Amino acid sequence: MDYDQVSDQERLIIRFPYVTGENTPKGLAAKKFKELIEKRSNGKIEVQVFPNSSLYSDYKEIEQLQKGNVQMIAPHTAKFSEILPEAQLLDLPYLFNNHEEVDELAEGPVGAEISRLLEKKGFKLLAVWNNGFKQLTNNQKPIQTPEDLFGLVFRIAHSEVIKEQFELAGAKSIVLPFDELYRALEAGKVQGEENTVSNINNKRLYTHQEYMTKSDHGYLGYFVITTNQFWSSLPKDTKTMLEETIDEVTEWERQTAAKMEEEQYLQLKQQEDLSIYELSPKEKTEWRNTFHSTYQWFTNKIDNKVIEEYVKTK
Ligand code: LMR
Repeated sequence: MDYDQVSDQERLIIRFPYVTGENTPKGLAAKKFKELIEKRSNGKIEVQVFPNSSLYSDYKEIEQLQKGNVQMIAPHTAKFSEILPEAQLLDLPYLFNNHEEVDELAEGPVGAEISRLLEKKGFKLLAVWNNGFKQLTNNQKPIQTPEDLFGLVFRIAHSEVIKEQFELAGAKSIVLPFDELYRALEAGKVQGEENTVSNINNKRLYTHQEYMTKSDHGYLGYFVITTNQFWSSLPKDTKTMLEETIDEVTEWERQTAAKMEEEQYLQLKQQEDLSIYELSPKEKTEWRNTFHSTYQWFTNKIDNKVIEEYVKTK
């Protein structure tokens, strides 16, 4: 995009850092958002995207957004768990059966409630983007039953629900930022991790992992978010353009995430040094039962009718 026609005073810059690679659902959607907004605003809005934690690692992102040093971020919802414990709803094991159920939640009363809670904390939720379902990888042994997790050490994103999930199986968990994960696996600081197909593939997380279980045991998605302060500083027509574009990109992102999950799983299956065990529907039900007590554990920790009612239906 040629910005020569737009003076610095006229231009709005949106800095948008993220931690994953570019060829991921989040990376591709950020690129699409940038392209569409710059075109539609005739260069008056410039979106600067910073992939691969090149600007900040994931926990710093939220802090820097609050300080106004970046204007938009899309962290894994779990990374909001300290600011908003209710966000851990999305970490409950086997909460969703498919991507459609995730989208229904995001667009329905629970999504609206999360948005309201975030607003009270100073954030404007723009969209929920999907990545996909989490799988388990490790360098010790094939994991077929929850009992196989016993004694292993996994890297997790910061979330008490995820910690509880591993504790229930007698496994240990260590919280590390995403940009430290590859090295932690390489150095043997952790034996395994849980992540989506696209992250395992894109960051080559399988390199130091011999085993993967296609468990689909949890969801990983993103809060596409800005601050109330930044949002309220924007003119009405800019807000409308941003909202319409984000809605369009969100629809595209969700389709892309579902497609990438399928395609990249086939690529992982080609990795000669990675042995994959795929849970059957019956095994998934058994895993779900094993971890189901996290639901009650979670609702005891929060005080929110809308979310508690939703969990009860699960
Ligand atoms: C992780 O930390 O494993 C993921 O949340 C990274 C991401 O943003 O997908």
